[in-house]
Amino acid sequence: MTNYVRIFDTTLRDGEQSPGATMTSAEKLELARALAKLGVDIIEAGFPAASPDDLEAVRRIAIEVGNPTDGSKAPIICGLARATKNDIDKAWQAVREAKHPRIHTFLATSEIHMQYKLKMDREQVVERVIEMVSHAHNLCPDVEFSPEDAGRSDPEFLYIVLEQAIKAGATTLNIPDTVGYTTPDEYGAIIAGIMKNVPGIENCTVSVHCHDDLGLATANALAGIQAGARQAEVTINGIGERAGNTSLEEVVMALHTRRPIFGLATGIDTTQLTRVSKLASNYTGIVVPPNKAIVGANAFAHEAGIHQDGMLKHTLTYEIMRPETVGVTRTRLVLGKHSGRHALKTRLVELGFALSEAELDKAFERFKALADKKKIITDADLEALVADEFYQPTEVFSLDGLQVACGTMGLPTATVRLKGPDGKLTIQAAVGTGPVDACYKAIDAIVQVPATLLEFAVHAITEGIDALGEVTVRIEAEGGTTATNAQRDFEQVRTFGGHGADTDIIVASVKAYLAALNKMLVATGQYVKQPEMAAVLN
Ligand code: KIV
Ligand code: ZN
Repeated sequence: MTNYVRIFDTTLRDGEQSPGATMTSAEKLELARALAKLGVDIIEAGFPAASPDDLEAVRRIAIEVGNPTDGSKAPIICGLARATKNDIDKAWQAVREAKHPRIHTFLATSEIHMQYKLKMDREQVVERVIEMVSHAHNLCPDVEFSPEDAGRSDPEFLYIVLEQAIKAGATTLNIPDTVGYTTPDEYGAIIAGIMKNVPGIENCTVSVHCHDDLGLATANALAGIQAGARQAEVTINGIGERAGNTSLEEVVMALHTRRPIFGLATGIDTTQLTRVSKLASNYTGIVVPPNKAIVGANAFAHEAGIHQDGMLKHTLTYEIMRPETVGVTRTRLVLGKHSGRHALKTRLVELGFALSEAELDKAFERFKALADKKKIITDADLEALVADEFYQPTEVFSLDGLQVACGTMGLPTATVRLKGPDGKLTIQAAVGTGPVDACYKAIDAIVQVPATLLEFAVHAITEGIDALGEVTVRIEAEGGTTATNAQRDFEQVRTFGGHGADTDIIVASVKAYLAALNKMLVATGQYVKQPEMAAVLN
């Protein structure tokens, strides 16, 4: 047993299963790059059998992120597969070009799942595990097996299944508390029992995978690690199915901050945590709650007088971690109106953005426009600007013009001009309960694809009256979708997030809504890119 804990990030797979978290291929690739820079050991890039698009997104990550050319360590790129030949073959097709590919296959082992979901008995489950792990092992030397719902499985049966999986070629055994049911003592005991009772386990890595239904995901994961697990399956901001997964930043910072207790290390560059958290929040449309540990806006804020007094006397009075350790910088001034293209390029590279010259020209144009309105441009502004400009979904409809009238006299009215998929400009006016409502009604009248607004959040990226406003929305598609069965099993395809940033929050609101609508149109098959078809189907 070593003192190194491997960090297996599943933001792009389990995280993407959060309602509304659907990401575009470009967003997934960018997030995978950021995860590699963060230092994660394994990136679970997706579920390739869900659709040809999912397979292609994983393949691109395997090729581009799984083969770094700058001398950095290549992360393992992993694809998830149910225990079927088709899923495993597709996962292999997607990850095989990575320097270090991994296939992760799973089958449920709890009585409740075997009886009601799989309709298989114990013997059939063991047989299937042997057959499918062997099949995966024949394709790929690195195979991970998960007994789904392990947290509610009979431990004695779990030992048998895991022993057979090891004999069939699995090298990592992941133990999911799929429904977030266990307590730390119970989960720790499950891992300890596996370490003690499964023949061959000493040659494998045992992994924790916990869900947060009872708010215990991080505590459970840490209990599992203390019992001997040396891989943690986690997501950025703790996003994931239902209440989410164990949050990467919480596990990493617990191991880091309480090192004397755990005596364990990870390969994570903790100073990247805040940046990656923001990136994931932008791309998934899932806002980080202000009180979220490590990456929430209030995680390092001190409000009460007694706390402020203590902080002024000595920061250790109320701060157990330095904000800088997780990438929260107190230095604000980065660039301003007189900064040139070179200065912008240098800062963007420092922030980890690899833009082409044409993209840099575009970014510089946006930067100058922003600097005209706002004196000081911070890193957070630059990150929002780049995300707003380059990491938006396929533009089916784009904003071409907007005028809004609102106030205490008359009805809030918006006139919106959109460019459609065929390049045609359409103009529409609408009244609403407020300016944003009026804009969204005008957009709906042009796009004519029914959607329901589920969530709308606006926040200022920096302080001050000239701050860049960032809007995040989540919408729900009305009516049927063209999701495949595999997608229905693994993806929430009916809700879509979008974000937009601008110094004008109405413009930011429109951009966010259009981003979500564009995602929805592409994902639900209501818009198919050229050359197959270039029209929106109503
Ligand atoms: O929670 C779970 O059981 C999973 C498996 C697919 C590993 O996500
Ligand atoms: Zn899970």
